[in-house]
Amino acid sequence: MSLILAFESSCDDTSVAILNSEYEVLVNLISSQPQHLDFGGVLPELASRLHMKNIMHLCKLALRKANVGLGEIDAIAVSINPGLIGSLIVGLAFAKSLAWSLQKPLITVNHLLSHIFANYIEYPELKPPFLALVVSGGHTELVHFKTDTEFEVLGKTLDDAAGETFDKAAKLMGLGFPGGPVIDRLAQGGDPNFVMLPNPLAQKDNFNFSYSGLKTAIRTYIQSKDDDFLKKHQHDIAASIQRAIVEPLISKSIRKARSLGVSQILIAGGVAANSALRQGLSTRAAKQGIMVFYPSLSLCMDNAAMVAAAAIPKFKAGIFAPLSVNANSIKGTRLL
Ligand code: KG4
Ligand code: ZN
Repeated sequence: MSLILAFESSCDDTSVAILNSEYEVLVNLISSQPQHLDFGGVLPELASRLHMKNIMHLCKLALRKANVGLGEIDAIAVSINPGLIGSLIVGLAFAKSLAWSLQKPLITVNHLLSHIFANYIEYPELKPPFLALVVSGGHTELVHFKTDTEFEVLGKTLDDAAGETFDKAAKLMGLGFPGGPVIDRLAQGGDPNFVMLPNPLAQKDNFNFSYSGLKTAIRTYIQSKDDDFLKKHQHDIAASIQRAIVEPLISKSIRKARSLGVSQILIAGGVAANSALRQGLSTRAAKQGIMVFYPSLSLCMDNAAMVAAAAIPKFKAGIFAPLSVNANSIKGTRLL
C-alpha cells in the first residue's frame, strides 16, 4: 500500500494529512487562523504569512502522529487552484521542495474538486458516474464525473456563491463570520416560509445558479426591519434565508441527475455541512431512487485529507506534475 503526504493552504487553513492508497486517513491536521476574525473576512497577506509560519511545524507533527518517516512517503500532493495566490504558493513551494528532495512524484489537485473526494474517505466503495454539487465560500458548481479523473461542469453560479450568501446574510444580521454555521443553527425550529425571497433562474432547463439578486433581497428585507423585530424573529428569518439558498441547489441537482440517468449525488465544500441541504437533498432524492453522499462535518471544511484523496486516482493513473508547475488563483474547475 502506498502513502500520500498532502498539503492544503488555499485559504486560511493550513493542513497536512497522510492517507494510504485505500483512502484511510493516518493523520489530518488543520491549523486554522483566528487572526482574521478581527477583519470580518480573510486577509490574504496575513494568511500567506501564517501558512509560512505553520507549515513546517504541522508537517513534522503529522509525520510524528502517523508514526511515518519521510522515506516511507510515496507521493506528495498539494492543491494549486483556485484560492488565494500567496497562500497557494506557500503550500506548493513546500510540496515541491519535498518532492524534489525525496525524489517522489508531485501530484497537484484542484482545491474545489478535492472537496468532492472527501466523500471517498467516508465511502471508499464509491464509484463514478455521479453528479457532484460543490458548494463553498467562493463556488457553486454542478459537476458530472464520468470516471475518477474525467469530469464536465454542467452548471455554476453566474455571480455570487452559496456560501458567500450565507456569510453576507449573517453579516447583515450582525451574526459574525463565517455565517453558514450560525444561520444553520439559528434556522433550527424556524419557519422557512416566514419571508418570501426570490428563487432565481428557476426555469426547468437552467442548471446555473445566481445569488446576487437574493443577496440584494436579503439586504433590502433586513434593512427594512428594526433591531427588535430582527431579534424576535431571528429563527424564522434564518430559516427563510437558508431555504432560499439551498432550494435551488436541491432542485437543480435532482433534476440534473435524473436527466443524466445518474443515481448518485455527492455534496462537497463548506456548505455541504448545511443540515437543511443534507436532509432536504437526501429525502427528496431518495424519492427518485437517487442516493446522496456527503462527508462528515469535519471533512467538509478545508483539509489536506481531501487533497490526498483527490490525488489517489491520479497517483494510480500515473498523472504527475512537473516541478515547474505553478499555482493559480483562477476561479473554477478546469483541471483536476
Ligand atoms: O469550502 P470552505 O471551507 O472554504 C472555501 O473553499 O470557500 O467553505 C466555507 C463556506 C463559508 O461560506 C461558510 O459560511 C460555509 O462554507 N459553511 C456553511 C456551513 N458551514 C460552513 N454554510 C451553510 N451551513 C453550514 N453549516
Ligand atoms: Zn474549500
